[in-house]
Amino acid sequence: MDERPERERGPAWYDDAFSRGPHWHADYSQSPYYWLWDRVADRLVEAGARAVLDLGCGSGQFACLLRDRGLPHYHGLDFSPARVNHARRSCPEFSFAVVNVLTSDWGGLWAYDAAVCVEFLEHVMDDLPLLSKIKPGAYFVGTVPNFAYDSHVRHFAAAAEALTRYKGLFDDFTVEALPDREGQHVFYLLEGRRRQTGASLHPRGSPGFGSPSV
Ligand SMILES: C[S@@+](CC[C@H](N)C(=O)[O-])C[C@H]1O[C@@H](n2cnc3c(N)ncnc32)[C@H](O)[C@@H]1O
Repeated sequence: MDERPERERGPAWYDDAFSRGPHWHADYSQSPYYWLWDRVADRLVEAGARAVLDLGCGSGQFACLLRDRGLPHYHGLDFSPARVNHARRSCPEFSFAVVNVLTSDWGGLWAYDAAVCVEFLEHVMDDLPLLSKIKPGAYFVGTVPNFAYDSHVRHFAAAAEALTRYKGLFDDFTVEALPDREGQHVFYLLEGRRRQTGASLHPRGSPGFGSPSV
């Protein structure tokens, strides 16, 4: 696993990519990521999740899928204003905030029982400090890819690499390789429960994003 810090992008990059990527605007059922979101949703249902905090939530497609599958509570965080505005319009039943999740204080501000990172951790260098902010005992499910991209600071050549990187933060941690239908790419599905003990890397004095009324 090699790391490319220079590929970490800011919100303007993601706003621009959103405006140029029609699939981010489509109904979730038409997205090339539908099958992956569906697998993550299955895990949330199996885990009995009722209140999901989605870090790097994007334009609301996964939120719409969870809404349609009956999830009662959801809060999405993303630093791209264009994506969050779209999410608010397409999924008014849930709440969203424009937040840089690396620098803001979201860990204990909302009564979530599950945290989600779908195709997000590979976009940030500080993935480990970020995950350490998930509250102890919360269920976690996420995905990371096996392929490089303009905005991927890392990718994983094998499930074992992802296991090694993230297992220290979670109990009952597993990694499952999910190949896409074309056999081109593999997504590693990460699942576990945030470990009860362990030092927090939470930054002091970072700004909060407010607490939704769920
Ligand atoms: C590949 S997209 C995935 C979006 C969504 N999870 C999905 O599955 O459709 C990565 C997302 O991470 C967001 N992002 C990247 N860095 C971020 C940060 N520091 N804080 C909040 N969001 C961030 C981007 O704006 C983008 O929406």
